[in-house]
Amino acid sequence: MTMNVVSIDSLTKHPGESVTIRGWVYHLRAKGKLAFLVLRDGSGIAQCVFVKSEVDDATFDEAQRLSMESAIEITGEVRLDARAPGGAEIGVRAMKTYQKAAADFPIQPKEHGTGFLMENRHLWLRSRKPWACLRVRDAVIRSIRGFFYERGFVNIDSPIFTPAACEGTSTLFEVEYFDEKAYLTQSGQLYAEAAAMAFGKVFTFGPTFRAEKSKTRRHLTEFWMIEPEVAFAELNDIMDLAEAMLCHIVKSVLAERREELTILERDITKLEKIVPPFPRLSYTDAVDLLKQKGLPFEYGGDLGAPDETAIGENYDRPVMVHRYPHEVKAFYMKRDPQDSRFALCVDVLAPEGYGEIIGGSQREENLDILEGRIADHKLPREAFAWYLDLRRFGSVPHSGFGMGLERCVAWLTGVDHLRECIPFPRMLYRIYP
Ligand code: 4AD
Ligand code: MG
Repeated sequence: MTMNVVSIDSLTKHPGESVTIRGWVYHLRAKGKLAFLVLRDGSGIAQCVFVKSEVDDATFDEAQRLSMESAIEITGEVRLDARAPGGAEIGVRAMKTYQKAAADFPIQPKEHGTGFLMENRHLWLRSRKPWACLRVRDAVIRSIRGFFYERGFVNIDSPIFTPAACEGTSTLFEVEYFDEKAYLTQSGQLYAEAAAMAFGKVFTFGPTFRAEKSKTRRHLTEFWMIEPEVAFAELNDIMDLAEAMLCHIVKSVLAERREELTILERDITKLEKIVPPFPRLSYTDAVDLLKQKGLPFEYGGDLGAPDETAIGENYDRPVMVHRYPHEVKAFYMKRDPQDSRFALCVDVLAPEGYGEIIGGSQREENLDILEGRIADHKLPREAFAWYLDLRRFGSVPHSGFGMGLERCVAWLTGVDHLRECIPFPRMLYRIYP
């Protein structure tokens, strides 16, 4: 007879059938002539019930002695049961052991410190909360790609080794590149701009690097960024795009990852409120709001994490703060023609204290002005020669933004530190495992 191998998340589609599932022992409890084994196969968990009289003695004995994380295969009958995790359990008939796990699996069902869990991240991935969080991440990635593909965007991968800075020189990772110096990319934006002039609407989606020397819950040294860039778009257009993208992501996650959000104890009602329109606030209005809230804030400075938290807490959906003073923003941003003290930029601040998840702007399209900016910022002109070419050959207004994937996932899952929103986090003091 051929085996009917199925995944645990599809068990409810096989009531009464004899199926085979393969996975790892998550939990085991033996009681007289019964043993209850919870099997984990990556798609979900299922309770497998061993009754001494229904399996041969050797199988029953072996099952009772299995250690946590032993790899096994189980064949048995699917019984629907609303009380069981996943809605079905297995009445076991046969079992095969692939490997009996060493007895000292470090992650036990008890409280562990985060340092310990991070040191064992390669094994911690198997636990329920990391599993749930990374499945939300996966759904977000898929949702983002779907969003842009439906709208006619082309995915363009930007390089990781780059000759110059995009987001300021203080967070560059320098690497030896044969006889030259190169830097790990901080953002794919400049390349996305080149691609937008070739393909119209593009997005890059890849790893980006920042040598962040601060130890905060919002900073990783390696993170993934999604960056759309659109020819002929102005600031308002990409604010609309960011709003539509975030609503689309929230909708997909609510539709596809409810179980995971429940495992993470996320208050789902908060996510259900994420619908357009998002409040839009100028920097000047945002500063007034901070003053009203009694926060000490010097007009003209950049918003810090506590300021972003305070502004975000005022609303039940993401808030778009636009037109910051140009001094606190990057060299490539266009100034507001209505008031040249400000840059045509936007930061999207998530609610519930999650702070900035998106940064974007309209780009300076004039060659002379941009050359002046590169000089003002003391950036090496040669490294930007190709970027200036974009302003010499058919320059048009264009805009884009970048969203940090982990920042978005942290907000959606309600996890309070970015390190849990990426499989293997890289931070100031962490590069293992
Ligand atoms: O605001 P940032 O620096 O903007 C850019 O890089 C632009 N070039 C994007 C563009 O217009 N195409 O970064 C964008 C986003 C932030 O809003 C934040 O979500 C995330 O990237 N981010 C980080 N995420 C994790 N760890 C860090 N160290 C991050 N730095 C930025
Ligand atoms: Mg920013």
